[in-house]
Amino acid sequence: MTKRRDFLKYSALSASALYLNPSLLAAIESGDMLKRTIPSTGEELPAVGLGSSATFRSMARSSDASGLREVLSTLLANAGTVFDTAPGYGDSEEVAGQYIGELGLREKVFWATKMNVAGRGGGKANPERALAQIEDSFEYIGKTPIDCMYVHNLGDLETQLPIVQRLKEEGRIRYYGTTNTSERRADQLADIMRKEDLDFVGLDYAVDNRYVEEELLPLAQDRGIGVFVYLPFGRARLWGRVSGVDLPEWAAEMGASTWAQFFLKFVLAHPAVTVVTPATTSVEHMLDNLGAGVGPLPDEAMRKRMVDFVDALPS
Ligand SMILES: NC(=O)c1ccc[n+]([C@@H]2O[C@H](COP(=O)([O-])OP(=O)(O)OC[C@H]3O[C@@H](n4cnc5c(N)ncnc54)[C@H](OP(=O)(O)O)[C@@H]3O)[C@@H](O)[C@H]2O)c1
Repeated sequence: MTKRRDFLKYSALSASALYLNPSLLAAIESGDMLKRTIPSTGEELPAVGLGSSATFRSMARSSDASGLREVLSTLLANAGTVFDTAPGYGDSEEVAGQYIGELGLREKVFWATKMNVAGRGGGKANPERALAQIEDSFEYIGKTPIDCMYVHNLGDLETQLPIVQRLKEEGRIRYYGTTNTSERRADQLADIMRKEDLDFVGLDYAVDNRYVEEELLPLAQDRGIGVFVYLPFGRARLWGRVSGVDLPEWAAEMGASTWAQFFLKFVLAHPAVTVVTPATTSVEHMLDNLGAGVGPLPDEAMRKRMVDFVDALPS
């Protein structure tokens, strides 16, 4: 009942901006939207969220970014809460913060952002610049605590990890971790996962990019670290591979009616995964992606079939 009441409250707040999908709405009301538990606290999160690099970032930079407001409304009206940004994604954080503020939904969002002033190539971070960047994020996001702050791309962890740890101690953020989407640096991520009490890691995982299954995902389970999955479509890569290819009929057995749901259900079926955050600029795609959080997930045999199917496609 509470969920229904909250939902109606949000609808009343921003009715004209909400995009409701009847089957998703039914799933929300029956409590059928997939949720996962954050290992360090037991808090539950809807397992499908929204990212903001790639196309989202380009639209945020354009003169008319109002489509992003609709995408955010759609996420929040259809049981999603998790939104992933970074100061490195151009204007994404600032534009999204403005729209979410206008919608009156700041408290509903589980907002994960990042910090890193070390630059590419393993440079040292200047702590004053790091703090200035963090204060900008607080201003754009417009709430304290921020739900999660990552050190982006393993950037100078010696300097920057203590900064986010201190923010957590001060109650200014609720969770922290680090991200990496480079197989080359997987060992470095594994080292830090062993040494530090991270709440989350963010990493790249897709049906045709499975290196994280070897060490990182089992390690996250062992160490009680939550996992954000990035690049579930490999940005443009998987779309290129399935261009002109029909979705196999057997995808219906796990409730996937589109390629996006096929790709997202594959990663969600791994038990280490807490949330997947595909980026989109399209309301239709946002609903499609949320649909992956409804209905069955593939079992091991089905996952093997999915891998074999995709591996056989030209890359
Ligand atoms: N190191 C890091 O910390 C790191 C690195 C990479 C990514 N990330 C995070 O992970 C998020 C996801 O990664 P990503 O944005 O690079 O790539 P992605 O989510 O794998 O792919 C995004 C692409 O898929 C398209 N798309 C989304 N939903 C679709 C659907 N249902 N049907 C057809 N096309 C669809 C989008 O286009 P449309 O706009 O047309 O839908 C966009 O071109 C990022 O936005 C970011 O938040 C973090």
